[in-house]
Amino acid sequence: MGQLKLNDFSITAIDPKQSDYLESIFYHGNGYMGARGFACEDTSIRPHQKGIYMAGMFDFLKDGITDMVNTPDFLGLRVLFGNGDKENGSFTISDFSQSLDLHDGVFSREYLMQGGDQTLHVRISRFFSLHDVHVVGVRLEITPTNFSGLVSCIASIDTISCNLPVNDDQVKKNNQCVNYMDILFKTPLEKGCLAVLETKSTKIGLAEAFAIQCSSNISHTSTYYSDSDGRISRIDTFNVHKGETYCIDKLISVFTSRDIDKPLIKNYTIEKLNACCEKGYERLLEENRSEWKNRWETADIEISGDPKAQCGVRYNIFQLICNNSQDDDHVSIGARGLTHPRYKGCYFWDTEIFMLPFFIHTNPTAAKNLLKYRYNSLPSAREHSRRMNTSGARFPWMTSFDGSEQCESWDTGACEMHITCDVAYAFDHYIRVSGDLSFLYDYAAEVYIETARFWASRFTYDPDKDRYNLLFTKGPDEYCGVTHNNTYTIYLSIYNFQLALLTTEHMKKACPACLDELYRKIGFDSDEIEKWLDIIKKTEINYDDSKKLFIEDDTFMLLEPLKISDYKKDNTPLYHQICFDRLQRYRVLKQADVILLMTLFPSHFTDEQKNAAWEFYEPLTLHDSTLSFGTHALLGAQINKMDKAWDYLTKSLYLDLDNIMGNTGSEGLHVASLGATWQAVILGFAGVSFSNGVIDVNPRLPETWDHLKFTLLIQGKKVSFSINKDNWDMKILE
Ligand code: BGC
Repeated sequence: MGQLKLNDFSITAIDPKQSDYLESIFYHGNGYMGARGFACEDTSIRPHQKGIYMAGMFDFLKDGITDMVNTPDFLGLRVLFGNGDKENGSFTISDFSQSLDLHDGVFSREYLMQGGDQTLHVRISRFFSLHDVHVVGVRLEITPTNFSGLVSCIASIDTISCNLPVNDDQVKKNNQCVNYMDILFKTPLEKGCLAVLETKSTKIGLAEAFAIQCSSNISHTSTYYSDSDGRISRIDTFNVHKGETYCIDKLISVFTSRDIDKPLIKNYTIEKLNACCEKGYERLLEENRSEWKNRWETADIEISGDPKAQCGVRYNIFQLICNNSQDDDHVSIGARGLTHPRYKGCYFWDTEIFMLPFFIHTNPTAAKNLLKYRYNSLPSAREHSRRMNTSGARFPWMTSFDGSEQCESWDTGACEMHITCDVAYAFDHYIRVSGDLSFLYDYAAEVYIETARFWASRFTYDPDKDRYNLLFTKGPDEYCGVTHNNTYTIYLSIYNFQLALLTTEHMKKACPACLDELYRKIGFDSDEIEKWLDIIKKTEINYDDSKKLFIEDDTFMLLEPLKISDYKKDNTPLYHQICFDRLQRYRVLKQADVILLMTLFPSHFTDEQKNAAWEFYEPLTLHDSTLSFGTHALLGAQINKMDKAWDYLTKSLYLDLDNIMGNTGSEGLHVASLGATWQAVILGFAGVSFSNGVIDVNPRLPETWDHLKFTLLIQGKKVSFSINKDNWDMKILE
């Protein structure tokens, strides 16, 4: 598979000013849970920064509004000279390096510890098992280089964790920490410790336990436990000999009451811990490695000719995997995944439009579960629609564990309704690529019909013009204000009606019993079909035929031009300089809108229309959302604007690694951009398309790339692609 270890990515010093940024990019996990790249040895009191987040772990910040809970730090493991009892004086660190191995998700730090005239070589590594998501392994390897004597090792669970809730308003800063967890009890175990906690209002139980195992060459002199300041620790003191290397392993197991009944979480955690102790660190690591190997076999993209881009692409893929809880159909992926509680960990359309294509083509189980999250939240979507005085199901703009609306800003929450047709589009995207008809009958059909019902009640009929309008909407470009007839939203909502119509027609013939059962569940009225057809017929898309230009919405052309170069000096979003009210009266776009639409339906638009959209919108787009760069790279490559496409790709590709927006540290990884990058590479530069059962490839490789190799799952088959600058080859593997 080639070299995955990111040599460029290992660092040899931590500049305190960069610690937030480094902790974000060194995030690693298994999607069920994950940790920012803080040190296991970190004992400083900054509990909100030592982030360990778990999928679906939310608690209420205030009435109706949840936050993604920062869970207690179970990773703590450190070594001290002498007897840990009296933390022997100060020590200095030198020869430091830190790396994240993308092969297997192992995060390691290595350094020399100097205390008086004693030097200890320390290497500490950890992984969140992808094989068994409830398991974490930490290994401390120590070598006294110039002394023999006592060293102590302190392993702990730090139960005092807290969040620093992030305001939705990006301009406001908060410095009030909130603690979401009650400690139910903590206790020493034979070889470690156990803590059982519960979220304060959602009452999600959490059990964390660890056990210590040491290499056979080490001799214990004492072991004792301490329980103070919320930290429960086991302290082992060892006799070590100069030049010998010793391993101290901390094996960890974690369960929540999201996985099993609350009274059982303690028992499950201890049973799992015992099983881990029987296996030992090496075997657990091996199991983790072999699962990563399986994932990489389908997910990898090999790029020859450009080692930096190779590294960046693999980093993007790695982080998509680390933020997805593939077997859980009650969670999605937050805008910052599990890397940071920005947006309070909420799920957006980011998943369906930007991340999902990667999973559709590399991990159908994960893709289906992401879609099932939406299916499972249909009751909340119905309730949301009812509250907004519409029918059917309307998916809220921002959601967490229960699918209720989490957006606190009225204009965005109430008007950015395209998420509902984005969800329908995503179901269809999965079914088109996979051919999975049972998923269509069992899940998608209900979503299509219920969302079509919402749209039917949201369009407004104008009897004078005998046409329908979609009034008071906001498209993907959030700087457009609240306006009418956003082209993106109309196009996708019409597609949503068509999905409902075509699916019911198809089911009438292919599976009438399934359709009858569905109608029994959600009702049926033949008049509604008439209404959907009427809306399709009488809704116009804003289009200037003379220029072949799709217009973003009804008011876009009325907006005041802005000389962008006077304001935009770097990638910092303009809302830091100009308030939203003013911004929405300028003719600028926050992010791709019409251009995004064209990437979702590549065969629906002519090259002339795509070029016209590019020439008009690209110069007006500020890319104040990181969702925008990858989309521009994709369309740019598809219409052969290769220089621009490459510029956009490099922004999207290195967005977090190069801290392009300057907020990777303070906000975590931009997961949608990771997915948009994947799409730009596969659908843009490699030029793969799949339409009406036909796979086509139209490569436009960047100058520095000699060759691209990857596999995609299409119609249940694994298809391998090998692409050079002027030719390509495709093989169906299984
Ligand atoms: C973007 C939205 C996006 C959200 C979360 C906002 O800045 O405008 O499109 O869904 O961030 O990533």
